[in-house]
Amino acid sequence: MGTTRMFRIFIVLGSAFMILLIIIYWDDVGASHFYLHTPVSPGPRIPHPPPRPKVPTTSRTPSFLNDIDAFVNQFLEPGTGEPTDVVPADSSNQSEKEERYVPRREWKIHLTPIAAELRERQEQRRRLLQEVCANDSVAFPGKNRSFDDIPNKELDHLIVDDRHGVIYCYVPKVACSNWKRIMIVLSESLQQEGVPQRDPLAIPRDLVHNSSMHFTFNKFWKRYGKFARHLMKVKLKKYTKFLFVRDPLVRLISAFRNKFEMRNEDFYRRFAQVMLRRYANQPTPPASVDEAFTSGIRPNFSHFVQYLLDPRTEKDMPFNEHWRQVYRLCHPCQIQYDFVGHLETAEEDAVHLLRLLRVDNVVEFPSSQRNLTASSWEWDWFSTVPVEARRELYKLYEPDFRLFGYERPDSILSE
Ligand SMILES: *[C@@H]1O[C@H](CO)[C@@H](O)[C@H](O)[C@H]1NC(C)=O
Ligand SMILES: *[C@@H]1O[C@H](CO)[C@@H](O)[C@H](O)[C@H]1NC(C)=O
Ligand SMILES: *[C@@H]1O[C@H](CO)[C@@H](O)[C@H](O)[C@H]1NC(C)=O
Ligand SMILES: *[C@@H]1O[C@H](CO)[C@@H](O)[C@H](O)[C@H]1NC(C)=O
Ligand SMILES: *[C@@H]1O[C@H](CO)[C@@H](O)[C@H](O)[C@H]1NC(C)=O
Ligand SMILES: *[C@@H]1O[C@H](CO)[C@@H](O)[C@H](O)[C@H]1NC(C)=O
Repeated sequence: MGTTRMFRIFIVLGSAFMILLIIIYWDDVGASHFYLHTPVSPGPRIPHPPPRPKVPTTSRTPSFLNDIDAFVNQFLEPGTGEPTDVVPADSSNQSEKEERYVPRREWKIHLTPIAAELRERQEQRRRLLQEVCANDSVAFPGKNRSFDDIPNKELDHLIVDDRHGVIYCYVPKVACSNWKRIMIVLSESLQQEGVPQRDPLAIPRDLVHNSSMHFTFNKFWKRYGKFARHLMKVKLKKYTKFLFVRDPLVRLISAFRNKFEMRNEDFYRRFAQVMLRRYANQPTPPASVDEAFTSGIRPNFSHFVQYLLDPRTEKDMPFNEHWRQVYRLCHPCQIQYDFVGHLETAEEDAVHLLRLLRVDNVVEFPSSQRNLTASSWEWDWFSTVPVEARRELYKLYEPDFRLFGYERPDSILSE
């Protein structure tokens, strides 16, 4: 009898505590702060807001609730002793902030469903990935390993946004700047005086590629320690995962044009000098990219292909991300992508994807004004490369062709 009574008191107290928690967290639940919150490291806020004086709280949240907040947050964020930015209430001007920044949470209402052919297209691309991954006659390094066997440093291309439950695997040279911009807008990791940047095109170029702007899987280790893998797997299960790909050989042409036909000091010193020394008979290549451009002693596309095929290249270090195969960047046999975009259908895919992610009220995909490398130039570029080299190059990138449904370029490989 005594025990039943105790039990009842327990139930009542427990319910009261739950209700209290719900009241405290009601706002945060809406912004999906509560569940598995992983804020991006604050990153550059431009201009840097001056530290505000600590004012005694007369704002809407009494301070004992803040203490509970801080207390609970300790458990939600294992591994970080740093104060979280989830509890700004006592240091910032709440009323002022609320006026300036009202999050847009409503969804866009669509009267028409997503076109059947777009859904069918995604269905096919996902099915193809599964089939190729299951087909033992397509083999490539790392295909058989499990997700747990992928080293952390190879997970550095997976950008996570907890706010909307999105994971993006970025592939350089495939509209990656624009999708990174969108991830920055979604995760609100770029703030100007406390107001998140909403316009993707207003984000400066050098910030887009600054890794401090993005919370990637390889940073989980630092933040969550031994829980990292477990959390990654939970997120991979629950979040929407996407990537964008393009014809692998056209991607190589694009990389060459972008990194070696423009004055890029960094790429010149790290790669072009090596190519000139090894394949162009230049034991002392020009010292800087400007000298190379004025003297005209620069690597050409055949040198670049030779560099890719040279076994010494990967012995020195893994391929640079601009020409590393997509299967090595994004692990499509370990991660079941929900959406596979193709650059060749980028505009349609972007509209479809943003709608699928339910963020088409927040951002629009910036349409690209740049002169894209066209597939039709492929023949012009590869005509200068010996046919045996073209075939070897195809072998090197064949898994990407197979996984993402790009046809074998017969016209380039025969003759
Ligand atoms: C990236 O941003 C941080 C500041 O957030 C800055 O310290 C760092 O130098 C930047 N890195 C590059 C490569 O620009
Ligand atoms: C807070 O905002 C109000 C109104 O916007 C302003 O009058 C007040 O000075 C601000 N206080 C602080 C500490 O910034
Ligand atoms: C596996 O790939 C080979 C070609 O590499 C193809 O001939 C075969 O039909 C594929 N098997 C399945 C089950 O799709
Ligand atoms: C992967 O496993 C299959 C059998 O399941 C085997 O035939 C194939 O050689 C393995 N591939 C690699 C790269 O280890
Ligand atoms: C590239 O340079 C080499 C000399 O280093 C030359 O033989 C070859 O024809 C050049 N290829 C192109 C496409 O200009
Ligand atoms: C794009 O570049 C190609 C060759 O570099 C040039 O022929 C074409 O006119 C350019 N198109 C535009 C729209 O600039």
